[in-house]
Parts: sequence; structure tokens; C-alpha cells
Amino acid sequence: MGQEMFLSLALLFLTSGALTNAQSEGEARGFAELEPAVVYYDINRNITLNCTFPNADKTLTYLWKKNDKAINEVPELKERFKLEENNAVFSVKGRANEDDYGNYSCALGGEARAWELRGRPVARLPDNTNVVEGQKLKLQCKVVGKPYPRVTWTYRPTEESNETVPLGETEGEGAEAEGAARWRLEPNEQGVEGAALVLEAAARADAGVYACRAGAGAPDHTVLRVKDMYAALWPFLGICAEVFVLCAIILVYEKRRTKPELDDSDTDNHDQKKS
Ligand SMILES: *[C@@H]1O[C@H](CO)[C@@H](O)[C@H](O)[C@H]1NC(C)=O
Ligand SMILES: *[C@@H]1O[C@H](CO)[C@@H](O)[C@H](O)[C@H]1NC(C)=O
Repeated sequence: MGQEMFLSLALLFLTSGALTNAQSEGEARGFAELEPAVVYYDINRNITLNCTFPNADKTLTYLWKKNDKAINEVPELKERFKLEENNAVFSVKGRANEDDYGNYSCALGGEARAWELRGRPVARLPDNTNVVEGQKLKLQCKVVGKPYPRVTWTYRPTEESNETVPLGETEGEGAEAEGAARWRLEPNEQGVEGAALVLEAAARADAGVYACRAGAGAPDHTVLRVKDMYAALWPFLGICAEVFVLCAIILVYEKRRTKPELDDSDTDNHDQKKS
């Protein structure tokens, strides 16, 4: 009884394995046939896909799809696209947005073409960042361009410096790497992996230029200034010192002025008594 059950289970396991193998092979072959070309598009610019097959039967019409869905059934493309030149040329009306990324295909007769559209990634950081020494710092790298790529970080001591240290991945090795290990990467407000750089307690030595880069896009940087913990106190202490010095000067001056006056009155009195 136990053996029979074991055998049937084994059979079930084998057949299911064979099925998934066959499925993935079929899918792999399907993609291989289409060979989607990876195309990067600029957000807020045009998207145009040309699918002209010169020798195609002119009586047939081009069939366009996005992510395996007929193009006119794609919600985010509703009233936002046009097909021209006998439906051979697809374009997005007006400006392309972040959600236009995905797999596009066209087919006519036995011929087909496929594109994998990705938004050209752009990373943004504020120009300047200030933090008070000892406080927590979270640098947010804003990313535009889906699918969101991996975000990487680098550090330079100054804007002129050629010495660039990667942050967040490598640990150990030298003073800078030691600093790098104090940082950790988190998802940013948009949920992009590694796009927020966090430091629990900023030190004066953390000041410098931090750059983030989304995928192969252009990096952007922020200049981090770490302010002295007593920075707000110094002007106040300065005013106190000024007041103190002024008071001291007035006191000394008053003392010097009143002493001779008293002497004068004394002599005056003597004179009066004498007369
Ligand atoms: C964008 O579209 C406009 C109008 O449809 C066209 O004049 C322009 O050449 C297009 N630009 C690109 C880069 O395709
Ligand atoms: C597009 O196709 C590729 C495989 O060619 C796949 O990895 C990717 O997830 C697809 N993109 C979308 C948005 O479905």
C-alpha cells in the first residue's frame, strides 16, 4: 500500500516536471522567434514603432499588442496612440509617460516584430543637503523611468576630487570603506530598491559629494554639509561676549570718571570750610 502510494506520487512528480519543462521550452522558443529589441524611450518625448514588412500581403492588417494584449484594449493607451501608414507605424500621441514601458509586438501574416520598451532612467538628488552632526540622515534618490533599475551610490570628498568610493555594497578596505559600511541602502519613497542612503548619526567626516545613478543613466549628485552641533549656539555666545565686554568697558570708564569727581567735591568742601 505504502509502496503504491509512493510510486503514484513519484509519477505525479515526474509528469508535472515534464509539463513545466515543455511549457518553459515553448515560451522560450516563442521569445526567441520574436527576439524583442530593447529600446529606451525618453519620458515626455515621442514613441514611434515602425513595423513595415515590404513584401507583406497588402490586404492584411497589422496586429499590434502590448504585453500580449490587443493594443486597443490596453487601459493606459486608451485614446493615446495612433496607427499610421496602413497600421504599420504605431506612435504614442503627445508625450510618452512612465507607464508606457512594456513589451510591444506587431504581426502581419507569418511575420512579427517585438520591442521591449524601457523608460530611460533619470536619477535626481537635491543640489545641497544639510544635516546637524549626530543626527540621522536619509538621502532620497528620485528615479524616473520604468522598469525601475538598480540604483548605485558613490562618494567623493569634494566636487573637484577624482577619488570616487562606491557606497552601500563594498565593506572593509581603508578609511573611506569604513565610512561606507556605516551607510545602508533602503528603498526610497517610490519603493525603488537601494534608492535611499541612510546614516544613523552623521559625523563631520561624512561631508562631501554623494551621487546616485539609476541603471546606466546619468548620475546626479548632492553636496552634503554636516553642521557643528553648537552651530546655532555660536552667534548667541558671541552676543553674550559682546555685551560682557561692553559692560566691562562702561564699568571701568564710570569708575575712572567718578573717582576724580569725588576728589573734587572733597576739596570743594574743604575750601568752603576754610573760607
Ligand atoms: C515627435 O512627434 C512630432 C509630431 O508628431 C514630430 O514632428 C517629431 O519629429 C517627433 N520626434 C521624434 C524624435 O520622433
Ligand atoms: C517583457 O518581456 C521580457 C522577456 O523578453 C520580460 O522579462 C519582461 O518582464 C516583460 N515586461 C513586461 C512589462 O511584461
